[in-house]
Amino acid sequence: MTTPRALRPVGILGTGHYVPEKVLSNFDLEKLVDTSDEWIFARTGMRERRIAAPEEATSDLCIQAGRRALENAGVDPEEIGLIIVATVTPDHLVPATACIVQNELGCTNAGAFDLEAACSGFVTNLSVAQGMIANGTIDKALIIGGECMSRILDYEDRASCILFGDGAGAAVIGADAPRGRVIESFLGADGSGGHTMRVHAGGSRRPVDQDALAERMNYLRIKGNEVFKFAVSTFRTLMEKQMRDHDFGPDDLGLVVPHQVNYRIIESALKKLEVPEEKIFINLEKYGNTSGASVGIALDEAIREGRVVEGKFLSLIAFGAGLTWSSALLRW
Ligand code: UT7
Repeated sequence: MTTPRALRPVGILGTGHYVPEKVLSNFDLEKLVDTSDEWIFARTGMRERRIAAPEEATSDLCIQAGRRALENAGVDPEEIGLIIVATVTPDHLVPATACIVQNELGCTNAGAFDLEAACSGFVTNLSVAQGMIANGTIDKALIIGGECMSRILDYEDRASCILFGDGAGAAVIGADAPRGRVIESFLGADGSGGHTMRVHAGGSRRPVDQDALAERMNYLRIKGNEVFKFAVSTFRTLMEKQMRDHDFGPDDLGLVVPHQVNYRIIESALKKLEVPEEKIFINLEKYGNTSGASVGIALDEAIREGRVVEGKFLSLIAFGAGLTWSSALLRW
């Protein structure tokens, strides 16, 4: 599925992110499961991740990130026509987390809904909102990826609990933005791979009951090896498609902001692409994998650190449970 040709140019007006204060280091995890700092860092590149306080929910992280993005954009809350929150860890099953954010931020003229595309969430948000702005349905959107992954992790399962962290990333996008113009976005899915990452109980197929809790079915289970292969090949395919479709090579690329999944996955994907490592933005050492928030947090940090190169391409690449994948190519 390719986004239709834009009727109005759409770009990024401002970005923001928020991560909770509490740090969970690899050494902290050593006390919870049979693992080591050495193993985690060697296999993933992660050193620590952030964990929401007991009283914090996903909307609280999204509100902070959203407020920072609005400030950075110089846009008033009333100017926002749409809020989309990408999350697999909503505050409640009903209502949408985006509605809580809409109310708290005072976005009184915005529609609001949640979007579930797992780790592809932030870039999928960008694609959806871009289409609605381009066709004139709305002028400005606040897109947010926010997760409290710690609430669905089993801290007795070393295969999954070491990988993820909490946080939120946000962007205000709008028509005729002076920079960060979206040239193309692309979405894909393969539901046959749904078994590789799943929370088995808590939905309509298997509501949470005593048996489900006893079997710890309310936590995320992953088949890391299978995801690893999918992630490497999807990363490569998405980047090759962007370069082919828009006829450019590594020299024209200013920066790639990928889903912060695992340093080894990113490194393996890069080998065949001939994109130098300095053109890849990586912050997973500090935050782990924050699922739908990961590209949003990384994008905001990359912009604030001056890593996005004016006049060059900025590539956003994401993939995750579903299976889903999404990419966006921007000109900065
Ligand atoms: O955004 C999408 C979500 N992300 C993912 O699904 C993650 C994608 N996959 C990965 O990042 C990697 O596959 C992992 C980091 C999860 C695992 O790395 P790996 O190199 O694929 O390791 P492995 O699963 O092949 O396991 C190697 C060994 C196994 O022991 P044996 O069977 O060789 O004795 C595991 O039991 O490492 C063991 N192991 C651990 N050891 C220490 C697995 N997890 C841990 C751990 N600490 N946390």
